Amino acid sequence: MHFHVLTLFPEMITDGFSTSITGRSLENGSVTLNAVNIRDYTINKHKKVDDYPYGGGAGMLMQAQPVYDAYKAVVQNINQRKGQKSTPRVIYLTPQGTVFKQSMAKELAREEDLIFLCGHYEGIDERVLEEIVTDYISIGDYVLTGGELPALVLMDAISRMVPGVLGNSDSGESESHSNYLLEYPQYSRPEMWNGKSVPPVLLSGDHAKVEEWRLEKSIERTAKMRPDLYEKWASENEEYFIRKAKREERKRKNELRKLKKAQKAQKAETEGKA
Ligand code: ADE
Repeated sequence: MHFHVLTLFPEMITDGFSTSITGRSLENGSVTLNAVNIRDYTINKHKKVDDYPYGGGAGMLMQAQPVYDAYKAVVQNINQRKGQKSTPRVIYLTPQGTVFKQSMAKELAREEDLIFLCGHYEGIDERVLEEIVTDYISIGDYVLTGGELPALVLMDAISRMVPGVLGNSDSGESESHSNYLLEYPQYSRPEMWNGKSVPPVLLSGDHAKVEEWRLEKSIERTAKMRPDLYEKWASENEEYFIRKAKREERKRKNELRKLKKAQKAQKAETEGKA
């Protein structure tokens, strides 16, 4: 995965991405990161990249020219690397975009190159957005001062889905949001901490039982914390409820059988005594 970020604050991107797991992905080469300073492309002799909006209004706008030239330079680099013409996706981070979610991270992780465009001030001249942007993405219904933090959020979530970034190859699939369910609770040593013990099933060594318990906890937690996700999961997993109802019915019948057997034994015993 090759990330390219068009920004006025490249150090914010490189600093933010260079620690922990994303930092390691750069070191092991599963991800590359190219933070491009839009200001380097302005033709203004004072290095200005913004101006007043036509029609008036608050604040300044980023101008089209430096953004477009920075974009062209990035695409030229990509084409040179690939030895052919390409049209990489360009993601503009904006509160007006589609709200980002896990399925989008998974889908974007299949691209070879992604270009992120980070706005500042009151935004970017609409004409260059029309010219280059393929995806408008928001990270939530609130307004930040710029697109850098949202770009980092997306790059973090996307890179986790790139092969070779997480140590354990399936851990990106098995956790919260990968199938609408939130992750089950997890415990590590010691067995007893602060008067609280680890759920006994996790110490049982019975893998099937552990899996069943984890699924139950995931479902319980999702229903409680995110009823919207629970509804989606439930509508796609009707067979789970059918299996569960059958299991409970079997259990109930078993208990009834045991009870009847015990009653019969007791009756025989009292009759024998009489
Ligand atoms: N830029 C400013 N606020 C943003 C948000 N919520 N999401 C994406 N980009 C933004």
